[in-house]
Amino acid sequence: MIKLPDLKNTNVNGKRVFLRTDIDVPLSQQSTINNQQLTIADDTRLKESLETLNFLLQNGATVILAGHLGRPEGRENDLTAQPVAKWYANEFRVQSSQFRVQNVGGFDGWRISDKLFLLENLRFNPGEESNPSTASGQVFARKLASLADIYVNDAFASSHRAHTSIVGIAKLLPHYAGFMLKKEIETLSSLLENPKRPLAVIIGGAKIETKLPVVEKMHQIADYVLIGGLIAEQTKVLLKVQHEKVEGRKSALLVADLNPDETDINENSVENFIQIINLSKTVIWNGPVGKTEGNEDNHEIASYKLAKGIAESGAYTVVGGGDTIGYLKKIGLLEKFSFVSTGGGAMLEFLSGDKLPGIEVLTNST
Ligand code: 3PG
Repeated sequence: MIKLPDLKNTNVNGKRVFLRTDIDVPLSQQSTINNQQLTIADDTRLKESLETLNFLLQNGATVILAGHLGRPEGRENDLTAQPVAKWYANEFRVQSSQFRVQNVGGFDGWRISDKLFLLENLRFNPGEESNPSTASGQVFARKLASLADIYVNDAFASSHRAHTSIVGIAKLLPHYAGFMLKKEIETLSSLLENPKRPLAVIIGGAKIETKLPVVEKMHQIADYVLIGGLIAEQTKVLLKVQHEKVEGRKSALLVADLNPDETDINENSVENFIQIINLSKTVIWNGPVGKTEGNEDNHEIASYKLAKGIAESGAYTVVGGGDTIGYLKKIGLLEKFSFVSTGGGAMLEFLSGDKLPGIEVLTNST
């Protein structure tokens, strides 16, 4: 079992803590009388990290929260962390006179309270995604590290990225794992060590370049690999070739077809998926297999049938990824899953046996 540095027994009183969280939440445009406003469509990731944040604040720390939102190229107004800052202000019942834009040690950000600050989307800075061993990565890491005495990673969903706020800064400061991160690693490690078989893994959604290598590894681990959605459509032939070439593979591969209007997988594919799910004792799911947004009330669509089939299968069910979680919440099925991971790509990479850079760096001392 991975041994993570324990935050619980650390004295944080009077210390400045850099808390890397998953603020990468789905946003939606909402119309108000005067204009369009960005709001948070699903706040699961923010809520999950409150335990660590409350622990730090209650034990006398000043907290600098930071994370990324989406994949901006430079500064993009649609990906500002402002809705997240407002969410925290609301959560901590901060009066609007206290909550304001503030420069935090040379970074754009918000003052939520005397002891709580949020930095603007870290990916607005080119240094965030630089390799931590390059000069620009190191300069940015030192700049981030100058804000704090202690670094805490509670961002499981981003821990597969060797980015500066995940790896570079952890190399420069005493570092700890947040409570959410610890729970994710403990639960997913025991699943990885001894899953009840047959084990089915369902992968959908976008981010194809992240998922393709994971699918390849899953052939060695899972009994059934079921692929649907955009990745299935765009890489159908490649997925089959990949599967054929895996030496000593254990898995059977099923790739879904789309329905005629290309908004979801077709009836036949969902039936096949559900038959496999009913044979399985563990089911892991990441990524929607169809267009779910705006379709929450339509229980006839294949995506709904698949979600219901998994939830009612009686297997140990694990789901991860912002869009999948958001959809399950809206259709009222999230509670039926055995474990909800905040990670999408990170969960898949961890369960495929990869070492995540953000976890590796925490297990080394500074
Ligand atoms: C996620 O949503 O999976 C994480 O925030 C990572 O995002 P990324 O794939 O853009 O690095």
